[in-house]
Amino acid sequence: MSNYSKPTIDWDSLGFNVTETKSMFRATCDLGGKWSGGELIPYGDIQLSPFAGVLNYGQGVFEGVKAFRSSKGNVVLFRPEMNGKRMAFSTKRICMPEMNPAFFVDAVTKTVKDNIDYVPPFGKGSLYIRPVVWGTAPILGVSPTSEYTFMVMVSPVGPYFKNGIKPLNLKVNTDYHRAAPKGIGNAKAIGNYSASLFPLMEAKKEGFDENIYLDAKEEKFVEELGSANMFIYKDGCLKTPALNGSILGGITRQSVCQVASDLLGITVEKTELTVDDLLSADEVFCTGTAVVITPVGKISYQGKMTEINQNKMGPIAQKIRETLVGIQREELDDPFGWVVSVE
Ligand code: PLP
Ligand code: COI
Repeated sequence: MSNYSKPTIDWDSLGFNVTETKSMFRATCDLGGKWSGGELIPYGDIQLSPFAGVLNYGQGVFEGVKAFRSSKGNVVLFRPEMNGKRMAFSTKRICMPEMNPAFFVDAVTKTVKDNIDYVPPFGKGSLYIRPVVWGTAPILGVSPTSEYTFMVMVSPVGPYFKNGIKPLNLKVNTDYHRAAPKGIGNAKAIGNYSASLFPLMEAKKEGFDENIYLDAKEEKFVEELGSANMFIYKDGCLKTPALNGSILGGITRQSVCQVASDLLGITVEKTELTVDDLLSADEVFCTGTAVVITPVGKISYQGKMTEINQNKMGPIAQKIRETLVGIQREELDDPFGWVVSVE
């Protein structure tokens, strides 16, 4: 008989933190091999060589996906195949066996199904899914390792930022870059996040929620936050920085562009955005799986603070958020076939 018992979780006080769940998925693959097999194992610590490539040379990539309990009572994923494709790109870039998107989606689905009791009730948050690939064989010289581990962990979560969708207070960081041209900014590589930790802690000490990073070459164009993409709305046009190699191609970013142009009739431009464009915008917001669509209310640049839309969420961000979240929760039609039920 199983000694599994349903979790008791206070769904109303979820933040963006780790809650231990029932199980996780694990598969391994040799360098040059193909992803297959794998199994669900009880959630818990894992054993790793202290010489593992991921620990010494940062050979690791990850993804972020969410499962929701929808208004129809289904447990659904939002565009998981897009995460699988992005992980295929990221693994290749970091010299790992290229992820197979169908294998990825199957593993994510199995993990969610096995942890279904941890999916929050409708309207109370989501189950955050964290797939990772790590170089796990020991290595001493700088080189790809001989063995890779793919894992899928999950945790119920609430809002990413502590004040939910209260407009963010951001700093245009002129001291640090997140990613460089021809680097790994467009891959979801763990090194990009270690690069952002020190500037993030400095920004938080100064009272900001996050940094806005500029392009590393000219320090003129807005790229993204450490954890999300950026949009502005100005003169009737929605604009987001064009993907230039150092920006992560967000799945929420792409979905927002499609919702805005195809469903809401808003003109969308993927283009270069200057700091002036940002500071003079009617609305600014950021997008991502974790942050969903969060408005930006204040931006500090070179020590001067500018308020955006009187520090309130604007009507365009509101409308896009309602539409996207409505599709994700099966409250609105899903004309693009983005929502996939796990059962
Ligand atoms: N940019 C960065 C650096 C991120 O970490 C994320 C989060 O995944 C995003 C953008 C948004 O991507 P997505 O919408 O696919 O979650
Ligand atoms: C996500 O939005 O899923 C991410 O991976 C961002 C992460 C830094 C929390």
